[in-house]
Amino acid sequence: MEKKHLPALSQNWLSMIGAVLALVSFFIILFLLSINLVIGIKNPYLGIVLYMVLPAFLVLGLLLIPAGMYARWRRLQGQGKIGHEKWPAIDLNKRSHRTSFVIFVSGTLLFILVSAVGMYQAYRYTDSVAFCGRTCHTVMKPEYTTYQQSPHARVKCAECHIGPGVGWYAKSKLSGLYQVYAVIANVYPRPIPTPISSLRPARVTCEQCHWPGQFFGAMQRRFDHYRYDKQNTRWLLNMLLRVGSGSAMTAGKSGIHWHVGHDITIEYIARDIRRQDIPWVRVTDIRTGTVKVFQDKEKPLSENEIAAAVPRIMDCMDCHNRPSHNLQSPDYEIDRELSFGRIDGSLPDIKSEAVEAMRGDYRSDAEAVKGIETTMTDFYRKNYPEIIEARKEAIADAVKAVQRAFLKNVFPGMNAKWSDYPNDIGHFIFRGCMRCHDGRHRTAGGSAIPHDCHTCHIILEQWKEGPTETLNLERGEDFRHPVDIGFAWKEMGCYECHRGVQP
Ligand code: HEC
Ligand code: HEC
Ligand code: HEC
Ligand code: HEC
Ligand code: HEC
Ligand code: HEC
Repeated sequence: MEKKHLPALSQNWLSMIGAVLALVSFFIILFLLSINLVIGIKNPYLGIVLYMVLPAFLVLGLLLIPAGMYARWRRLQGQGKIGHEKWPAIDLNKRSHRTSFVIFVSGTLLFILVSAVGMYQAYRYTDSVAFCGRTCHTVMKPEYTTYQQSPHARVKCAECHIGPGVGWYAKSKLSGLYQVYAVIANVYPRPIPTPISSLRPARVTCEQCHWPGQFFGAMQRRFDHYRYDKQNTRWLLNMLLRVGSGSAMTAGKSGIHWHVGHDITIEYIARDIRRQDIPWVRVTDIRTGTVKVFQDKEKPLSENEIAAAVPRIMDCMDCHNRPSHNLQSPDYEIDRELSFGRIDGSLPDIKSEAVEAMRGDYRSDAEAVKGIETTMTDFYRKNYPEIIEARKEAIADAVKAVQRAFLKNVFPGMNAKWSDYPNDIGHFIFRGCMRCHDGRHRTAGGSAIPHDCHTCHIILEQWKEGPTETLNLERGEDFRHPVDIGFAWKEMGCYECHRGVQP
């Protein structure tokens, strides 16, 4: 009996369905890709359809075609209609075989070409801010919302989280597969734990744009505080932060970025995974080879604990751990709203009331929006009934400002708020620099990691009564605590009383 031609084999339901599926997906992909090349796709879900769902259907369709053919070939063999060879024979001298062959080869080439374009686009897409920040929007809401208000709002997530090179791209996509599973199965942690243990070393990512050798001089910062008294008394602090790195090139004096200079390695051991409790620090001067070890003299590590630990090398992230996802505290946010005038500081007790309303324990955004309004209006109705009508608009504006501040910084759906993500810059509401600079970290010889208030900054101006003195430019002004707490501000850390709400 004459052998059946190859194309005849493909005349079966399975192959037909496969072919239709493949063709339809292929043309939709082609259509969307060309739109994307021309105008760019902004919608994150469209990206998922284009780069993940449709290609899956295309490949499935393409696999169904030979599967159907194979099944039919076996059936024909079973019915004895064709011989029992192991493989179908292809004969390019036959016209029909030749046609199929040409269709097959050119189809494959076209497929590879479109895949290459598609894969490149998919690579760019899975690195995009829309994909990282918006596809799983409940999960990433705290990070994405804070990111949009940060100085890095124009830096792509991937530039910090993945950095350059193929190796880390592949690594991140592999761990991404687990994350996709965790989201679909709803088993992801709330809040997302920090620090990220597998984060790429900051020296590689941050230094794409910031070059540590070039830090010099000082940087001015103003901290506008308002007290928790009836008048919401303003307390302004204006200071210079000594951000120099002390590198030979800038020939400057040393300063805060000395820690990441090229001549120095600092290693430390932390007791906790958040790196808030740091009992052991080692400094190596690479040029001279001198090594200094500082231990927390009140709770040092034992020899065995030191031997068992793997010290971490200090980098940008040990201070700038929230460069783009800073969840701010009520104290900070309300001070900011007051200083921008979006909350009217002439409303009595508005600072403490607004902080109280924002710190409330709400289970959802909607509950918070409502709760903030009732807390604040009830407060004025009860305590200041005489102004409730006259200052109606000011109170309503204040309520709106507190609601906005809440929605930008507290995320009930993810159990995420300021206290879950300590910021290691400074020492006002978290330990920060004082994890090492608390004056208790000493070498065996007794010299301490500096704790003096003038080591890191100079106070230029702070609210005070009476005439201003001439400023000593090396030391600045001595700090004055806004209310009398004796020397407690010297002996304790600010963060022991100030925790982002009323101290
Ligand atoms: C300027 C660099 C930078 C950019 C840009 C950036 N991140 Fe981050 N991200 C960080 C750092 C630093 C951490 C904290 C790492 C640590 O402490 O281990 C972090 C932490 C996270 C975490 C872990 C949870 C947490 O809050 O600590 C998630 C999730 C995250 N980022 C998502 C994103 C997303 C989504 C984007 C883009 C919308 C983005 N990041 C953009 C630097 C960045
Ligand atoms: C792709 C480039 C890029 C990368 C990567 C990057 N940054 Fe930045 N960063 C910038 C730019 C641009 C600014 C200035 C933004 C401005 O002034 O508005 C900035 C500003 C900053 C500031 C000053 C913020 C302020 O309040 O003035 C800090 C601190 C900072 N970056 C730290 C980091 C850290 C830490 C990392 C690594 C986790 C990092 N950056 C990664 C581009 C980058
Ligand atoms: C023993 C506890 C304690 C310590 C330690 C402490 N404070 Fe305070 N602080 C208070 C109290 C109480 C108030 C008064 C709150 C109010 O009525 O405004 C206050 C108010 C303030 C205010 C004005 C209101 C506000 O919260 O913004 C500033 C600014 C301030 N402290 C800065 C500091 C700094 C900086 C340090 C560390 C050098 C520090 N404090 C250490 C208890 C403390
Ligand atoms: C020891 C802590 C520490 C380390 C480590 C550190 N920084 Fe900073 N950096 C600071 C402080 C403090 C400031 C002052 C700004 C502030 O307080 O928010 C600052 C400021 C900056 C600024 C703004 C400076 C300006 O003049 O505008 C940039 C950018 C920056 N750091 C990037 C980096 C990068 C990149 C690294 C890693 C190579 C790094 N920092 C390591 C503490 C640190
Ligand atoms: C992991 C521990 C650690 C942390 C965290 C840390 N430092 Fe340091 N810092 C050191 C050590 C160690 C020295 C050097 C002590 C010595 O050699 O005498 C130092 C020295 C300094 C110096 C003096 C540098 C010089 O010019 O010689 C400044 C300024 C400084 N740190 C600022 C900061 C600031 C600001 C922060 C917080 C944003 C901070 N440090 C956080 C360990 C730390
Ligand atoms: C190791 C360095 C270091 C030492 C020592 C240090 N500070 Fe600071 N301090 C900082 C940094 C960094 C910031 C800026 C934080 C920021 O950018 O938010 C800061 C911020 C402050 C602020 C403003 C806080 C705010 O958020 O309003 C005050 C006030 C202050 N320091 C007082 C003191 C006093 C008083 C001492 C001595 C007991 C002291 N500091 C010792 C590094 C230091």
